[in-house]
Amino acid sequence: MSAQELEKTAQAMVAKGKGILAIDESFPTIKKRFDNITIESTEGNRRAYRDLLITNPGGAEYISGMILFDETMRQNTADGTPFPEALIKQGIMPGIKVDAGAKDLAGHSGEKITEGLDGLRDRLAEYRKLGAKFAKWRAVITIGDGIPGTGCIEANAHALARYAALCQEAGIVPMVEPEVLMDADNTIDRCYEVTEITLNTVFNQLYRQRVTIEHTILKTNMVISGKKCKTQAGIQEVADKTVRCLLRTVPAALPGIVFLSGGQSSQLATAHLNAMNKMHPHLPWPLSFSYGRALQDDCLKTWAGKSENLAAAQAALLHREKCNSLACLGEYTDKMEQAV
Ligand code: 13P
Repeated sequence: MSAQELEKTAQAMVAKGKGILAIDESFPTIKKRFDNITIESTEGNRRAYRDLLITNPGGAEYISGMILFDETMRQNTADGTPFPEALIKQGIMPGIKVDAGAKDLAGHSGEKITEGLDGLRDRLAEYRKLGAKFAKWRAVITIGDGIPGTGCIEANAHALARYAALCQEAGIVPMVEPEVLMDADNTIDRCYEVTEITLNTVFNQLYRQRVTIEHTILKTNMVISGKKCKTQAGIQEVADKTVRCLLRTVPAALPGIVFLSGGQSSQLATAHLNAMNKMHPHLPWPLSFSYGRALQDDCLKTWAGKSENLAAAQAALLHREKCNSLACLGEYTDKMEQAV
């Protein structure tokens, strides 16, 4: 892919009013999600569920790309069309999760390092042949007693930068995802502090590894209170602190920023994104979404593994996609939730 194509792909990922649907759950993660609706994580059930997500009529109006898992990249729709081809036909770009998961970081109790660099050049070449336009790598930063340490942040940022450089070499846009987890009891200000140092370190490493910022998408957490924190910051505070943190750390040359939902409720993830775009309409980059749970939760519950629920499940997904598309424009209101 030429430089122009990489730039075009990156810009199309964050086109006005569009975002990314993350459906790249690994085997252990999809099992957890299926356990919640008491269905077994078999190859057939995973295919049926991803088929529903991928072939949802009308989704292309709000969704620019979907992040797939390796298995999904090689599966077909019910009529035998490979999933990547089914997406391309709708005008949706296939993306692929290429990291091999977060493992314990030696010498750093409670902290993780994302693996998957070995052999990545060859895997990227294959994914490109299968139709991938962009790839995702998730680094996990945990907030806790005395953590994160500099060693963990630097190791993860370095791996993200090496992955991003390999992606661009292969003609694939890297979606660089440093995720500061929101599961602890920390305040929003602690999240701000950790997110700021993480993003600074990541962009420093991207520069060191000669990654072209114009051909990169950032996927990050919002600056938010830890789930177990007694005082939960309101929507406006989350929006303002997230935007301030990004303005201080992210180069203006970046084509766009998308957020993960990280365990926020579906409606709150939408409301936060909307508040950022409504109150801060003149940022250097578009702010959009790349949610997994916050787009899929209602859909998955509605489906419950039963084919007779397929249309209702697809409608639930489309509703969340539409709400988040409007949130990209700052035009979402919670009245839209009552119409369902
Ligand atoms: P959540 O929106 O469920 O956090 O997932 C997004 C994602 O892709 C995490 O890597």
